[in-house]
Amino acid sequence: MVAYKSKAVERIRLPGRDERERALEEAGYNVFALAADDVYIDLLTDSGTGAMSDEQWAALHRGDESYAGSPSFERLESAVADVMGFPYVIPAHQGRGAENVLYGSILSEGDVVPNNTHFDTTRAHVANQGAEAVDCPIEGAHDLSAAESFKGNFSVERAREAVSEVGAENVPLVISTITNNSTAGQPVSIENTRRVRAFADEIDATFVIDACRFAENAFFVREREDEYAEMSVADIAREQLEYADAVVMSGKKDGLANTGGFVATRDEALFERCKSRAILYEGFPTYGGMAGRDIEAMAVGLREAVTDAYIEDRIEQVRTLGSMLEEADIPTYTPVGGHAVYLDAGSFYPHLDSSEFPGQVLVCELYREGGVRGVELGSFAFPDSDRPELVRLAIPRRTYHQEHFEHVLETVKRAYENRDTVDGLRLATEPEIPELRHFTAELEPVSR
Ligand code: F0G
Repeated sequence: MVAYKSKAVERIRLPGRDERERALEEAGYNVFALAADDVYIDLLTDSGTGAMSDEQWAALHRGDESYAGSPSFERLESAVADVMGFPYVIPAHQGRGAENVLYGSILSEGDVVPNNTHFDTTRAHVANQGAEAVDCPIEGAHDLSAAESFKGNFSVERAREAVSEVGAENVPLVISTITNNSTAGQPVSIENTRRVRAFADEIDATFVIDACRFAENAFFVREREDEYAEMSVADIAREQLEYADAVVMSGKKDGLANTGGFVATRDEALFERCKSRAILYEGFPTYGGMAGRDIEAMAVGLREAVTDAYIEDRIEQVRTLGSMLEEADIPTYTPVGGHAVYLDAGSFYPHLDSSEFPGQVLVCELYREGGVRGVELGSFAFPDSDRPELVRLAIPRRTYHQEHFEHVLETVKRAYENRDTVDGLRLATEPEIPELRHFTAELEPVSR
Protein backbone atom coordinates (compact mmCIF):
# COMPACT_ATOMS: atom_id res chain seq x y z
CA MET A 1 0.00 0.00 0.00
CA VAL A 2 1.38 3.43 -0.97
CA ALA A 3 1.51 5.83 1.97
CA TYR A 4 2.69 9.07 0.30
CA LYS A 5 2.31 11.44 -2.61
CA SER A 6 4.81 14.15 -3.61
CA LYS A 7 4.49 17.83 -2.70
CA ALA A 8 7.93 18.97 -3.88
CA VAL A 9 10.11 17.36 -6.52
CA GLU A 10 13.81 17.40 -7.38
CA ARG A 11 15.10 17.10 -10.93
CA ILE A 12 17.48 14.23 -11.66
CA ARG A 13 19.42 13.51 -14.83
CA LEU A 14 21.16 10.49 -16.26
CA PRO A 15 24.46 11.68 -17.79
CA GLY A 16 25.39 10.04 -21.10
CA ARG A 17 27.62 6.98 -21.12
CA ASP A 18 30.71 8.98 -22.19
CA GLU A 19 30.12 11.45 -19.39
CA ARG A 20 29.79 8.64 -16.89
CA GLU A 21 33.02 7.01 -18.07
CA ARG A 22 34.81 10.33 -17.74
CA ALA A 23 33.32 11.11 -14.32
CA LEU A 24 34.36 7.69 -13.05
CA GLU A 25 37.91 8.11 -14.27
CA GLU A 26 38.16 11.61 -12.80
CA ALA A 27 36.82 10.27 -9.49
CA GLY A 28 39.67 7.74 -9.36
CA TYR A 29 37.08 4.91 -9.54
CA ASN A 30 35.85 5.98 -6.12
CA VAL A 31 32.17 7.00 -6.21
CA PHE A 32 32.56 9.11 -3.06
CA ALA A 33 34.40 11.55 -5.33
CA LEU A 34 31.55 11.85 -7.86
CA ALA A 35 29.49 15.03 -8.01
CA ALA A 36 25.97 14.13 -6.82
CA ASP A 37 24.55 15.88 -9.90
CA ASP A 38 26.27 13.24 -12.00
CA VAL A 39 24.44 10.46 -10.13
CA TYR A 40 21.03 9.39 -11.43
CA ILE A 41 19.88 7.19 -8.54
CA ASP A 42 21.82 7.62 -5.34
CA LEU A 43 21.87 4.57 -3.09
CA LEU A 44 25.14 5.48 -1.37
CA THR A 45 23.44 5.77 2.00
CA ASP A 46 20.08 5.97 3.75
CA SER A 47 21.60 8.50 6.17
CA GLY A 48 20.21 12.03 6.03
CA THR A 49 19.12 11.53 2.41
CA GLY A 50 15.40 10.92 2.95
CA ALA A 51 12.49 13.22 2.14
CA MET A 52 10.95 15.05 5.08
CA SER A 53 7.18 15.13 5.51
CA ASP A 54 5.05 18.27 5.23
CA GLU A 55 4.67 18.12 9.02
CA GLN A 56 8.44 18.20 9.44
CA TRP A 57 8.82 21.14 7.04
CA ALA A 58 6.10 22.95 8.98
CA ALA A 59 7.88 22.20 12.26
CA LEU A 60 11.08 23.85 10.98
CA HIS A 61 9.33 27.21 11.29
CA ARG A 62 8.72 26.60 14.98
CA GLY A 63 12.46 26.20 15.56
CA ASP A 64 13.64 28.35 18.45
CA GLU A 65 17.33 29.18 18.28
CA SER A 66 17.89 30.13 21.95
CA TYR A 67 21.29 29.06 23.19
CA ALA A 68 19.82 27.57 26.37
CA GLY A 69 16.39 26.22 27.29
CA SER A 70 14.87 26.33 23.81
CA PRO A 71 11.25 25.09 23.57
CA SER A 72 12.42 23.10 20.53
CA PHE A 73 14.58 21.08 22.90
CA GLU A 74 11.57 20.48 25.15
CA ARG A 75 9.66 19.11 22.19
CA LEU A 76 12.55 16.76 21.43
CA GLU A 77 12.64 15.65 25.06
CA SER A 78 8.97 14.79 25.00
CA ALA A 79 9.28 12.95 21.64
CA VAL A 80 12.20 10.88 22.99
CA ALA A 81 10.30 10.13 26.20
CA ASP A 82 7.12 9.11 24.33
CA VAL A 83 8.74 7.16 21.49
CA MET A 84 11.82 5.70 23.18
CA GLY A 85 11.08 5.91 26.90
CA PHE A 86 14.18 7.84 28.05
CA PRO A 87 13.85 10.90 30.35
CA TYR A 88 17.31 12.43 29.71
CA VAL A 89 18.38 13.63 26.26
CA ILE A 90 21.46 15.40 24.89
CA PRO A 91 21.36 16.41 21.21
CA ALA A 92 24.46 16.02 19.04
CA HIS A 93 25.28 17.16 15.52
CA GLN A 94 24.82 13.59 14.23
CA GLY A 95 25.19 9.98 15.41
CA ARG A 96 28.97 9.98 15.65
CA GLY A 97 28.87 13.12 17.79
CA ALA A 98 26.55 11.25 20.15
CA GLU A 99 28.99 8.32 20.12
CA ASN A 100 31.82 10.60 21.11
CA VAL A 101 29.80 12.07 23.99
CA LEU A 102 28.54 8.76 25.34
CA TYR A 103 31.47 6.42 24.74
CA GLY A 104 33.96 9.08 25.80
CA SER A 105 32.07 9.35 29.10
CA ILE A 106 32.20 5.62 29.79
CA LEU A 107 35.44 4.22 28.35
CA SER A 108 39.07 4.44 29.32
CA GLU A 109 42.36 3.10 27.98
CA GLY A 110 42.56 -0.69 27.83
CA ASP A 111 38.80 -1.36 28.03
CA VAL A 112 37.14 -3.91 25.78
CA VAL A 113 33.74 -3.33 24.15
CA PRO A 114 31.59 -6.19 22.82
CA ASN A 115 29.00 -5.23 20.16
CA ASN A 116 27.00 -7.48 17.78
CA THR A 117 28.95 -5.63 15.07
CA HIS A 118 30.56 -2.21 15.43
CA PHE A 119 29.58 0.26 12.75
CA ASP A 120 32.71 2.06 11.36
CA THR A 121 32.28 5.25 13.40
CA THR A 122 31.50 3.25 16.55
CA ARG A 123 34.67 1.21 16.13
CA ALA A 124 36.65 4.40 15.56
CA HIS A 125 35.23 6.09 18.69
CA VAL A 126 35.96 3.03 20.81
CA ALA A 127 39.54 3.00 19.46
CA ASN A 128 39.80 6.74 20.04
CA GLN A 129 39.35 6.12 23.78
CA GLY A 130 42.20 3.58 23.72
CA ALA A 131 39.69 0.74 24.02
CA GLU A 132 39.29 -2.37 21.87
CA ALA A 133 36.17 -3.10 19.81
CA VAL A 134 35.20 -6.79 19.73
CA ASP A 135 32.55 -7.90 17.23
CA CYS A 136 30.20 -10.60 18.50
CA PRO A 137 27.94 -11.56 15.57
CA ILE A 138 26.10 -14.86 15.76
CA GLU A 139 27.23 -17.89 13.82
CA GLY A 140 25.81 -17.57 10.30
CA ALA A 141 25.67 -13.78 10.28
CA HIS A 142 28.01 -13.75 7.27
CA ASP A 143 26.25 -16.67 5.58
CA LEU A 144 24.67 -14.88 2.65
CA SER A 145 21.65 -17.14 2.35
CA ALA A 146 20.94 -18.67 5.80
CA ALA A 147 17.20 -18.36 6.31
CA GLU A 148 17.41 -17.15 9.92
CA SER A 149 14.99 -14.55 11.31
CA PHE A 150 17.46 -12.50 13.35
CA LYS A 151 20.89 -12.66 11.71
CA GLY A 152 21.78 -9.37 13.40
CA ASN A 153 21.69 -10.87 16.91
CA PHE A 154 24.43 -10.42 19.51
CA SER A 155 26.34 -13.56 20.46
CA VAL A 156 26.52 -13.51 24.26
CA GLU A 157 28.78 -16.58 24.06
CA ARG A 158 31.40 -14.68 22.04
CA ALA A 159 31.17 -11.71 24.37
CA ARG A 160 31.63 -13.99 27.35
CA GLU A 161 34.85 -15.33 25.79
CA ALA A 162 36.15 -11.76 25.43
CA VAL A 163 35.28 -11.05 29.07
CA SER A 164 37.00 -14.19 30.28
CA GLU A 165 40.20 -13.04 28.54
CA VAL A 166 40.35 -9.53 29.97
CA GLY A 167 38.23 -9.67 33.14
CA ALA A 168 34.82 -8.07 33.71
CA GLU A 169 36.40 -4.99 35.30
CA ASN A 170 37.75 -4.07 31.83
CA VAL A 171 34.38 -4.38 30.10
CA PRO A 172 32.34 -1.37 31.27
CA LEU A 173 30.18 -1.16 28.15
CA VAL A 174 28.18 -3.56 25.98
CA ILE A 175 26.52 -2.35 22.76
CA SER A 176 23.80 -3.86 20.58
CA THR A 177 23.30 -2.24 17.17
CA ILE A 178 19.70 -2.47 15.92
CA THR A 179 19.37 -3.16 13.08
CA ASN A 180 22.89 -4.44 12.57
CA ASN A 181 24.14 -2.19 9.77
CA SER A 182 27.47 -3.96 9.30
CA THR A 183 25.67 -7.29 9.03
CA ALA A 184 23.50 -6.40 6.03
CA GLY A 185 20.97 -4.44 8.10
CA GLN A 186 19.74 -7.61 9.80
CA PRO A 187 17.40 -7.31 12.78
CA VAL A 188 17.97 -8.14 16.45
CA SER A 189 15.23 -9.91 18.43
CA ILE A 190 13.86 -8.72 21.76
CA GLU A 191 14.65 -12.15 23.18
CA ASN A 192 18.31 -11.50 22.26
CA THR A 193 18.12 -7.98 23.70
CA ARG A 194 16.92 -9.43 27.01
CA ARG A 195 19.85 -11.83 27.03
CA VAL A 196 22.31 -9.00 26.41
CA ARG A 197 20.70 -7.06 29.27
CA ALA A 198 21.18 -10.03 31.60
CA PHE A 199 24.79 -10.41 30.43
CA ALA A 200 25.52 -6.71 31.05
CA ASP A 201 24.06 -7.06 34.56
CA GLU A 202 26.18 -10.13 35.17
CA ILE A 203 29.40 -8.20 34.43
CA ASP A 204 28.10 -4.90 35.82
CA ALA A 205 28.42 -3.08 32.48
CA THR A 206 26.37 -0.27 30.95
CA PHE A 207 24.13 -1.59 28.17
CA VAL A 208 23.81 0.80 25.21
CA ILE A 209 21.62 0.26 22.16
CA ASP A 210 22.75 1.92 18.93
CA ALA A 211 19.20 2.81 17.95
CA CYS A 212 19.82 4.41 14.53
CA ARG A 213 17.31 2.05 12.88
CA PHE A 214 15.21 1.07 15.91
CA ALA A 215 11.86 1.49 14.10
CA GLU A 216 12.91 -0.77 11.23
CA ASN A 217 14.08 -3.30 13.78
CA ALA A 218 10.70 -3.19 15.58
CA PHE A 219 8.94 -4.00 12.31
CA PHE A 220 10.92 -7.25 12.02
CA VAL A 221 10.26 -8.13 15.66
CA ARG A 222 6.52 -7.86 15.03
CA GLU A 223 6.83 -10.00 11.94
CA ARG A 224 9.13 -12.69 13.33
CA GLU A 225 8.84 -12.90 17.12
CA ASP A 226 5.52 -14.59 17.97
CA GLU A 227 5.08 -12.84 21.28
CA TYR A 228 4.92 -9.45 19.51
CA ALA A 229 2.76 -10.32 16.51
CA GLU A 230 -0.24 -8.35 17.75
CA MET A 231 1.57 -5.28 19.08
CA SER A 232 2.06 -1.94 17.34
CA VAL A 233 5.55 -1.11 16.07
CA ALA A 234 5.55 1.88 18.44
CA ASP A 235 4.95 -0.33 21.49
CA ILE A 236 7.52 -2.90 20.34
CA ALA A 237 10.16 -0.22 19.78
CA ARG A 238 9.62 1.16 23.27
CA GLU A 239 9.77 -2.28 24.84
CA GLN A 240 13.05 -3.16 23.08
CA LEU A 241 14.69 0.07 24.20
CA GLU A 242 13.48 -0.44 27.77
CA TYR A 243 16.24 -3.00 28.26
CA ALA A 244 19.01 -0.46 27.59
CA ASP A 245 20.57 2.03 29.99
CA ALA A 246 21.14 4.46 27.14
CA VAL A 247 20.92 4.87 23.37
CA VAL A 248 23.04 6.59 20.74
CA MET A 249 20.89 7.84 17.92
CA SER A 250 21.53 9.22 14.46
CA GLY A 251 18.49 11.31 13.58
CA LYS A 252 19.54 10.88 9.94
CA LYS A 253 18.11 7.37 9.89
CA ASP A 254 14.96 6.62 11.91
CA GLY A 255 14.75 10.24 13.05
CA LEU A 256 13.68 10.87 9.42
CA ALA A 257 15.76 14.07 9.45
CA ASN A 258 18.56 15.36 7.24
CA THR A 259 20.89 15.95 10.16
CA GLY A 260 21.17 15.50 13.93
CA GLY A 261 21.39 12.88 16.62
CA PHE A 262 21.37 12.45 20.38
CA VAL A 263 22.28 10.46 23.44
CA ALA A 264 19.34 9.45 25.63
CA THR A 265 19.48 7.66 28.96
CA ARG A 266 17.57 6.80 32.09
CA ASP A 267 20.74 6.94 34.24
CA GLU A 268 21.01 10.35 35.87
CA ALA A 269 24.68 10.03 36.83
CA LEU A 270 25.64 9.03 33.29
CA PHE A 271 23.57 11.95 31.96
CA GLU A 272 25.56 14.39 34.12
CA ARG A 273 28.88 13.00 32.86
CA CYS A 274 27.70 13.18 29.26
CA LYS A 275 26.58 16.79 29.67
CA SER A 276 30.09 17.96 30.50
CA ARG A 277 31.53 16.17 27.50
CA ALA A 278 28.75 17.48 25.26
CA ILE A 279 29.61 21.06 26.19
CA LEU A 280 33.21 20.40 25.19
CA TYR A 281 32.53 18.74 21.84
CA GLU A 282 28.99 19.48 20.67
CA GLY A 283 27.44 22.51 22.35
CA PHE A 284 25.31 23.49 25.32
CA PRO A 285 23.27 20.39 26.22
CA THR A 286 19.92 21.84 25.10
CA TYR A 287 21.10 22.22 21.49
CA GLY A 288 24.22 20.06 21.19
CA GLY A 289 25.43 21.25 17.81
CA MET A 290 21.98 21.32 16.22
CA ALA A 291 19.93 24.27 15.06
CA GLY A 292 16.60 24.53 16.90
CA ARG A 293 14.78 24.08 13.58
CA ASP A 294 16.54 20.80 12.89
CA ILE A 295 15.71 19.62 16.40
CA GLU A 296 12.04 20.27 15.60
CA ALA A 297 12.23 18.25 12.37
CA MET A 298 13.88 15.35 14.19
CA ALA A 299 11.30 15.42 17.02
CA VAL A 300 8.45 15.12 14.49
CA GLY A 301 10.38 12.52 12.46
CA LEU A 302 10.86 10.26 15.48
CA ARG A 303 7.12 10.15 16.05
CA GLU A 304 6.43 9.44 12.37
CA ALA A 305 9.04 6.66 12.22
CA VAL A 306 7.06 4.37 14.53
CA THR A 307 3.70 4.77 12.82
CA ASP A 308 2.56 1.57 11.14
CA ALA A 309 1.77 3.38 7.87
CA TYR A 310 5.31 4.74 7.59
CA ILE A 311 7.23 1.65 8.58
CA GLU A 312 5.17 -0.76 6.47
CA ASP A 313 5.66 1.42 3.40
CA ARG A 314 9.38 1.70 4.17
CA ILE A 315 10.15 -1.97 4.57
CA GLU A 316 7.93 -2.87 1.62
CA GLN A 317 10.03 -0.59 -0.62
CA VAL A 318 13.30 -2.19 0.42
CA ARG A 319 11.83 -5.66 0.02
CA THR A 320 10.38 -4.85 -3.38
CA LEU A 321 13.82 -4.03 -4.72
CA GLY A 322 15.21 -7.16 -3.04
CA SER A 323 12.54 -9.38 -4.62
CA MET A 324 12.96 -7.83 -8.06
CA LEU A 325 16.69 -8.66 -7.92
CA GLU A 326 16.12 -12.14 -6.53
CA GLU A 327 13.61 -12.93 -9.27
CA ALA A 328 16.24 -11.94 -11.84
CA ASP A 329 18.63 -14.44 -10.18
CA ILE A 330 21.01 -11.72 -9.03
CA PRO A 331 23.09 -12.97 -6.07
CA THR A 332 22.09 -10.98 -2.96
CA TYR A 333 22.25 -11.28 0.81
CA THR A 334 19.00 -12.85 2.08
CA PRO A 335 16.72 -12.32 3.84
CA VAL A 336 16.72 -8.63 2.92
CA GLY A 337 17.31 -6.36 5.94
CA GLY A 338 15.80 -3.03 6.92
CA HIS A 339 17.50 -0.25 5.00
CA ALA A 340 19.32 -1.73 2.03
CA VAL A 341 19.73 -4.56 -0.41
CA TYR A 342 23.24 -6.07 -0.46
CA LEU A 343 24.64 -7.52 -3.68
CA ASP A 344 27.06 -10.42 -3.45
CA ALA A 345 29.94 -9.11 -5.58
CA GLY A 346 32.00 -12.21 -4.78
CA SER A 347 29.54 -14.28 -6.83
CA PHE A 348 29.51 -11.73 -9.66
CA TYR A 349 33.25 -11.92 -10.11
CA PRO A 350 34.74 -15.24 -8.97
CA HIS A 351 37.69 -14.54 -11.32
CA LEU A 352 38.76 -11.53 -9.21
CA ASP A 353 40.87 -11.94 -6.10
CA SER A 354 39.86 -9.90 -3.04
CA SER A 355 43.02 -7.80 -3.59
CA GLU A 356 41.37 -6.64 -6.84
CA PHE A 357 38.33 -5.34 -4.93
CA PRO A 358 35.42 -7.16 -6.63
CA GLY A 359 32.89 -5.09 -4.64
CA GLN A 360 34.39 -1.82 -5.80
CA VAL A 361 34.47 -3.15 -9.35
CA LEU A 362 30.72 -3.76 -9.10
CA VAL A 363 30.14 -0.29 -7.62
CA CYS A 364 31.92 1.19 -10.66
CA GLU A 365 29.97 -1.02 -13.08
CA LEU A 366 26.64 0.13 -11.59
CA TYR A 367 27.62 3.72 -12.16
CA ARG A 368 28.99 3.04 -15.62
CA GLU A 369 25.91 1.04 -16.71
CA GLY A 370 23.16 3.18 -15.23
CA GLY A 371 24.39 6.13 -13.15
CA VAL A 372 23.46 4.23 -9.96
CA ARG A 373 25.65 4.86 -6.90
CA GLY A 374 26.03 2.16 -4.24
CA VAL A 375 28.80 1.55 -1.72
CA GLU A 376 31.40 -1.18 -1.34
CA LEU A 377 31.47 -3.06 1.97
CA GLY A 378 34.10 -5.70 1.33
CA SER A 379 37.88 -5.89 1.04
CA PHE A 380 38.20 -2.23 -0.02
CA ALA A 381 36.32 -0.84 3.01
CA PHE A 382 37.55 -3.50 5.46
CA PRO A 383 41.19 -4.32 4.77
CA ASP A 384 42.39 -7.59 6.31
CA SER A 385 38.95 -8.85 7.23
CA ASP A 386 37.29 -12.06 6.07
CA ARG A 387 33.94 -10.41 5.42
CA PRO A 388 32.03 -11.25 2.26
CA GLU A 389 32.42 -8.95 -0.77
CA LEU A 390 29.18 -6.98 -0.53
CA VAL A 391 27.83 -3.90 -2.27
CA ARG A 392 25.14 -2.03 -0.38
CA LEU A 393 22.26 -0.39 -2.22
CA ALA A 394 20.85 1.71 0.61
CA ILE A 395 17.34 3.07 0.11
CA PRO A 396 16.78 6.68 1.22
CA ARG A 397 13.47 7.02 3.08
CA ARG A 398 10.36 8.21 1.18
CA THR A 399 12.51 9.28 -1.80
CA TYR A 400 12.40 6.83 -4.69
CA HIS A 401 9.57 4.97 -6.41
CA GLN A 402 8.92 1.86 -8.44
CA GLU A 403 10.27 3.41 -11.68
CA HIS A 404 13.57 4.18 -9.98
CA PHE A 405 13.82 0.61 -8.76
CA GLU A 406 13.09 -0.70 -12.24
CA HIS A 407 16.03 1.31 -13.53
CA VAL A 408 18.22 -0.06 -10.72
CA LEU A 409 17.13 -3.60 -11.64
CA GLU A 410 17.97 -3.09 -15.32
CA THR A 411 21.34 -1.61 -14.36
CA VAL A 412 22.25 -4.49 -12.06
CA LYS A 413 21.12 -7.00 -14.69
CA ARG A 414 23.42 -5.42 -17.28
CA ALA A 415 26.33 -5.50 -14.85
CA TYR A 416 25.57 -9.16 -14.17
CA GLU A 417 25.42 -10.01 -17.88
CA ASN A 418 28.84 -8.39 -18.40
CA ARG A 419 30.36 -9.98 -15.32
CA ASP A 420 32.93 -12.13 -17.15
CA THR A 421 34.41 -9.22 -19.05
CA VAL A 422 35.47 -6.85 -16.27
CA ASP A 423 38.92 -6.28 -14.81
CA GLY A 424 39.90 -5.69 -11.20
CA LEU A 425 41.08 -2.49 -9.53
CA ARG A 426 44.13 -1.60 -7.50
CA LEU A 427 44.96 1.28 -5.18
CA ALA A 428 46.57 4.28 -6.86
CA THR A 429 46.78 6.33 -3.65
CA GLU A 430 46.80 5.05 -0.08
CA PRO A 431 45.38 7.44 2.56
CA GLU A 432 46.98 7.59 5.99
CA ILE A 433 44.24 5.78 7.94
CA PRO A 434 43.62 2.40 6.26
CA GLU A 435 40.24 1.95 8.03
CA LEU A 436 38.93 5.07 6.30
CA ARG A 437 40.59 4.57 2.93
CA HIS A 438 37.39 3.74 1.02
CA PHE A 439 36.19 7.34 1.46
CA THR A 440 39.16 8.97 -0.25
CA ALA A 441 41.52 6.47 -1.91
CA GLU A 442 41.94 6.60 -5.67
CA LEU A 443 42.03 3.42 -7.71
CA GLU A 444 43.00 2.32 -11.19
CA PRO A 445 42.01 -0.60 -13.38
CA VAL A 446 44.24 -3.65 -13.49
CA SER A 447 44.45 -4.73 -17.13
CA ARG A 448 44.83 -8.42 -17.79
N1 F0G B 1 25.70 3.81 14.07
C1 F0G B 1 25.23 3.17 12.98
C2 F0G B 1 24.69 1.78 13.13
C3 F0G B 1 25.24 3.80 11.73
O1 F0G B 1 24.77 3.14 10.66
C4 F0G B 1 25.76 5.11 11.62
C5 F0G B 1 25.83 5.78 10.32
C6 F0G B 1 26.21 5.75 12.79
C7 F0G B 1 26.18 5.07 14.00
C8 F0G B 1 26.77 7.15 12.75
O2 F0G B 1 25.75 8.07 12.53
O3 F0G B 1 26.28 9.12 10.30
O4 F0G B 1 24.76 10.25 11.96
O5 F0G B 1 27.19 10.10 12.39
N2 F0G B 1 25.67 5.19 9.21
C9 F0G B 1 25.67 5.80 7.88
C10 F0G B 1 25.62 4.73 6.83
C11 F0G B 1 26.75 6.80 7.65
O6 F0G B 1 25.76 5.06 5.63
O7 F0G B 1 25.39 3.56 7.15
P1 F0G B 1 26.03 9.46 11.74
